[in-house]
Amino acid sequence: MRREIQPSGVERFFDEDEIIVSKTDTNGLITYANDVFIRVSGWSEAELIGAPHSIIRHPDMPRCVFKLLWDTIGAGSEIFAYVVNMAKNGDHYWVLAHVTPTFGPDGRITGYHSNRRTPRREAVREIEPIYRTLLAEEAKHAGKLDQVEASTQAPAERARERQHEVR
Ligand SMILES: Cc1cc2nc3c(=O)[nH]c(=O)nc-3n(C[C@H](O)[C@H](O)[C@H](O)COP(=O)(O)O)c2cc1C
Repeated sequence: MRREIQPSGVERFFDEDEIIVSKTDTNGLITYANDVFIRVSGWSEAELIGAPHSIIRHPDMPRCVFKLLWDTIGAGSEIFAYVVNMAKNGDHYWVLAHVTPTFGPDGRITGYHSNRRTPRREAVREIEPIYRTLLAEEAKHAGKLDQVEASTQAPAERARERQHEVR
């Protein structure tokens, strides 16, 4: 269903004092969505619960960001990430997400939790061109794994080039 939705190019916003909250199981299937998430995403609670979190994935998000997210939380650590999400009607909204693992009494990860605030506009202005560069790198490759590999390596390669340029 998600794949059929086209980005509308229209940005939507939520208030500075609001937090978009969701919880997932260990596979990223949504187990909880708060009212702000439901309102901003445009999906109903019934549609969200049990759906993969990629239900709000926007095609402008580089794959490597999600790989870093999953690698980090899967290893038991927290991560902050700027993410552009897509609402049910194709509108987009930027968030600064804080994603954390939830641990059971035996210390094993039982699920994940994400709190998102509206990001500062300067941060969005800075991150947009970086994500565009990563996405362009991914677009040069056909397979998902090759795409992630290329965009993960791209910042290091660019840094090496720049070192070369300033010498
Ligand atoms: C707690 C949690 C929150 C997540 N939040 C988002 C989100 O807001 N937007 C998003 O696109 N992916 C989010 N993800 C990542 C998705 O599970 C998925 O990896 C991503 O959408 C890429 O999907 P794809 O591999 O189908 O392209 C979240 C994952 C977890 C565990």
